[in-house]
Amino acid sequence: MADHYRIVLLPGDGIGPEVCAEAVRVLKACTEAGGPAFAFTEHNAGGVAIDRDGDPMPDDTLAECAGADAVLLGAVGGPKWDELTGPMRPESGLLKLRKALGAFANLRPVSIPACLADHSPLKRDRIAGVDLLTVRELTGGIYFGQPVGREGEGDDERAWNTMLYSADEIRRVARVAFEWARKRRGVVTSVDKANVLEVSRLWRDTVRALHEAEYADVELNHLYVDNAAMQIVLRPAQFDVILTGNLFGDILSDTSATLGGSLGLLPSASLGGGTGLFEPVHGSAPDIAGEGKANPLAMILSAAMMLDDLGEANAADAVRRSADRVLEAGYRTADLRTPESKSASTSELGRMIAEEVKDRI
Ligand code: NAI
Ligand code: MG
Repeated sequence: MADHYRIVLLPGDGIGPEVCAEAVRVLKACTEAGGPAFAFTEHNAGGVAIDRDGDPMPDDTLAECAGADAVLLGAVGGPKWDELTGPMRPESGLLKLRKALGAFANLRPVSIPACLADHSPLKRDRIAGVDLLTVRELTGGIYFGQPVGREGEGDDERAWNTMLYSADEIRRVARVAFEWARKRRGVVTSVDKANVLEVSRLWRDTVRALHEAEYADVELNHLYVDNAAMQIVLRPAQFDVILTGNLFGDILSDTSATLGGSLGLLPSASLGGGTGLFEPVHGSAPDIAGEGKANPLAMILSAAMMLDDLGEANAADAVRRSADRVLEAGYRTADLRTPESKSASTSELGRMIAEEVKDRI
């Protein structure tokens, strides 16, 4: 192990800096308890970078990110920058970053602690045992395929996008899904539309061949995307790892995101073999920014995914168990409050989790 990991922090806008500070607090607690050590460098990204540097993702920040062991990002954007267009938008900076890191696999785990089952829009018995991981291809498919175009006028106007995948692109993301399945419950469900789309037939053939050649110990199932959407709502507990392309993954990961009842719980990782990018699924939540109301769990659990990616599984588990413990003790930020729960601010929840971590490493 390196004597410390170099972590670039991009707190960003809105609640980004508030939740990012709590993830750093928890990581520092890991170090104090004898776990891994970190050197943090902080940079502007998103709206705050537009204001200060005239660019949502300046080149020197990109270079720092690419040279780091991991990047932790809060969230970017907000009403102040909504009028901007094209590469000056805060989100453009994020796309640039993902591209620079070659982050082709987006991982979004969803699990619902038993003590939060009542927050789910689904009934308690449907939610029991939900623990799924969506692996979405992030740098190909219809969002990037050429040709793209629009021509003509009036009744003759038409437009088109191209859903394009190479076998190589499919194989490398499928490999990520199979590897995670091995560390989890050993089941991959590959989602496509192979009854209609040629690109899906290549997807299915490629995933099947890789499975036979290298991952026969993992169970592989295939689902059409329309059925997958239904199953995620009807019987979400059946899934372990869901593997899918960019467009289907965008839709299905947001469908799964609703299962837990709050965006403030959901972490993500974007990986490509180089530096990984770890960020909560939620945005900058301008409606609650600066009020200490944001739930820091999504960001703290993103830091746990970072620890996993760095090979620090013990520390990652310690962080996750600490977060569970604090929730089980009844402490909640505003998004998860019930009449019985004990209210905690963003930093109070972060402090409690950091305290727990110290006993668990
Ligand atoms: P949002 O995720 O910021 O907020 C949606 C709702 O969820 C809001 O009511 C918010 O208060 C609540 N919420 C979100 N995170 C929370 C947390 N940690 N704790 C408690 N409540 C939380 O999405 P919205 O409102 O659509 O977008 C706001 C801004 O964020 C926009 O500028 C958007 O472009 C940007 N955005 C950025 C993303 C990123 O940086 N990756 C992703 C999504 C949106
Ligand atoms: Mg989406």
